[in-house]
Amino acid sequence: QANERESMYLVSEFAQQHFSEILWKNELGKAIGLSYFKERGFTDETIKKFGLGYCLDQWDGFTSAALDKGYLLKYLEQTGLTIVKEDATNPNNSRKFDRFKGRVMFPIHSMSGRVLGFGGRILTNDKKAAKYLNSPESDIYHKSKVLYGIFYAKQSIAKEDNCFLVEGYTDVIQFYQRGVQNVVSSSGTALTPEQIRLINRLTKNITVLFDGDAAGLRASLRGIDLILEQGMNVKVCSFPEGEDPDSFAKNNDYEDVVLYLQEHAKDFIQFKANLLAQEAANDPIKRADTVRDIVNSISKIPDAIKREIYIQECAQIMNVSEGVLFSTLAQIGKKEV
Ligand code: CTP
Ligand code: MN
Ligand code: MN
Ligand code: MN
Ligand code: MN
Repeated sequence: QANERESMYLVSEFAQQHFSEILWKNELGKAIGLSYFKERGFTDETIKKFGLGYCLDQWDGFTSAALDKGYLLKYLEQTGLTIVKEDATNPNNSRKFDRFKGRVMFPIHSMSGRVLGFGGRILTNDKKAAKYLNSPESDIYHKSKVLYGIFYAKQSIAKEDNCFLVEGYTDVIQFYQRGVQNVVSSSGTALTPEQIRLINRLTKNITVLFDGDAAGLRASLRGIDLILEQGMNVKVCSFPEGEDPDSFAKNNDYEDVVLYLQEHAKDFIQFKANLLAQEAANDPIKRADTVRDIVNSISKIPDAIKREIYIQECAQIMNVSEGVLFSTLAQIGKKEV
């Protein structure tokens, strides 16, 4: 079993090298893939650092190269790099093709730097095709347990004693290139306890950065309770309408990015209390729900002293008595036992 996994790592590492080589040396790779990354503002150094690549727009360019090198179809299939379509009438006539055909490639590394899988982005604005395609779940790639960029960010996270959590691949890369290197991404999936535990080993402080498109803001806020549950401190920071951390870091220099983060990062509980207080301001019926919602988040915090301080602050923000909040907290506590 360990050998099987090792074979999957080896074929993934070959794939990463192959896609990079296409990007830097193949004429089409340079014209299409490399120029795409350069247009996004990535430097040669950054493209190499993150091991970015390109999968040619051919049916099986990568798969043939891997088979020629002696890698087994079994592992190409298990890692999802190759898709095999069986021919029902003739088992010897199965067709193999590259999952990531025609996409620029973002390798996904483990904490220790092994290649676990890939994200591949289409280059067109074809709304019918998925913008990003990711490796399927496998024995080496569990998307709920991985954070994109953690291998590059881990030292900086420990040093800065804070981790920026962004939505996507390019947000991580652009921040890193700009000089903010303590940054990782959950890559479009809802945050999981396992992902948070990876960060928790390095720092107790997370700052969640949202795209300025409001999509999923409320849903994301729920995921944040999971961070509180692990006893960590959470701040949130949103970006101007239409911007994400990638575009913001591309268009602003290091000092402006750092200043923006300092000025706009808000303590999560305070942020949520303000948001809920605004929403319920003209609607007395909503107030009971919002009080329960915020107290529910506070109830996730393991530390009793922190809970008490937040209750006091939220009573002010939401203009309700501390007593009501404390009794709501007690009710929630009972339900959970
Ligand atoms: N994502 C995905 N599949 C999609 C869309 C998004 O897996 N069809 C994931 C990717 O990891 C992506 C992240 O969700 O990086 C955030 O999505 P989005 O903000 O839409 O993409 P960006 O990262 O901003 O991508 P780009 O700047 O390349 O358009
Ligand atoms: Mn496993
Ligand atoms: Mn988004
Ligand atoms: Mn985005
Ligand atoms: Mn983007």
